Amino acid sequence: MGGAELIGKEEKEAVSEVIERGVLFRYGFNEKRKNIFRVLEFEAKFNQYMGCAYSLGVASGSAALRVALAALNLKRGDEVITQSFTFVATIEAILEAGGVPILTEVDKSLNMDPRDLEAKITEKTRVIIPVHMLGVPARMDEIMAIARKRNIPVLEDSCQACGSSYRGKKTGTMGDMGTYSFDYVKTLTTGEGGMVVTNDKKLYDLACYYHDHGHEHNPELPRGEDSHSITGFNYRMNEIQGAMGIVQLERLDFVLTEHRKHKTRIKKAIAEIPGIEFRDLPDPDGDGGDTLAFFLGDAGTARAFNAFLAREKVDTKILPSAMNWHFVGNWNHIIQYCPPYRVDAWPQSEALLKRAIALPISVRMSDEHISRVIEGVRRVAKEVL
Ligand SMILES: Cc1ncc(COP(=O)(O)O)c(C=O)c1O
Repeated sequence: MGGAELIGKEEKEAVSEVIERGVLFRYGFNEKRKNIFRVLEFEAKFNQYMGCAYSLGVASGSAALRVALAALNLKRGDEVITQSFTFVATIEAILEAGGVPILTEVDKSLNMDPRDLEAKITEKTRVIIPVHMLGVPARMDEIMAIARKRNIPVLEDSCQACGSSYRGKKTGTMGDMGTYSFDYVKTLTTGEGGMVVTNDKKLYDLACYYHDHGHEHNPELPRGEDSHSITGFNYRMNEIQGAMGIVQLERLDFVLTEHRKHKTRIKKAIAEIPGIEFRDLPDPDGDGGDTLAFFLGDAGTARAFNAFLAREKVDTKILPSAMNWHFVGNWNHIIQYCPPYRVDAWPQSEALLKRAIALPISVRMSDEHISRVIEGVRRVAKEVL
């Protein structure tokens, strides 16, 4: 599951210390808080970890996307290209910002298909959002080349891939802006929370203003007299989340190491099963490792495989267990906003997703648990394939 598995004494102490000091707000109250600013510290450490210039803590990954789209100056009716397989929040953020979501097919990496991205760019495209799904980096070289050729900003949705990387760079830091989620099931958790990152001071300033009602945080002025030039909303992170984040960031490399170790063991053990084809990994070294996804020959086989896995008490993650929330083909409640307004308009993604299975990998996965998953998959394969 990620960082939540490791919540312990250090998180408890960090949170208690904030509560004892009594200032839960990220700004002001300098004397009472003894000049201790946990969100600010978390942001500085996050910059260092990610290798980027600016980080802004926000209330959630969904908020991070909304704030980033505001900083990128998305206007009503602008087209934003993202992908057909993502969590619904990516689309909701575009709609909240007044944009029109244009969704690409995914390829065998289960991330944005660069060829379809190229085909779907129009003169109205204002932002491209590749999503690093299930810990795996998207094909960023191809995506960045397509975007740069046309001068279209890239916003990476790295909400499912905090700590993953692509060719030596952390996911979230290759585009113009990046976003992360720290909700309860992520590699790093602050309960709820998120981060916006960028290397561009102007985009950072706009994000910072927008996430706090337009406040420009002028150090010469008390908050009540602060200057404003744009409207905004409240997407702020609080000090409890900041304190949690500092501790959890220290744990992130351990989380990734354990995920990768367990995933490698399971993957190696089931690799020889004929009929199982693993998902493409655009950079295997950068995979965050919290999910092992593979394809079966056809949708019927995948359905049977999934049913038998349940009988063996082997869990799946998103594919297929939460497809209702992750694939446009199931979004009758949103499709009226997504051209071409038909849930069957992504045949390549649908065909791939219907024959995909994803296994969750956790940090504290015991040898016994790993063996149970391996044996379970082997038994199911014998019966179904
Ligand atoms: C791809 C993606 N984007 C955005 C989000 C939204 O993050 P949050 O739950 O922190 O709002 C999620 C959450 O799971 C996600 O998976």
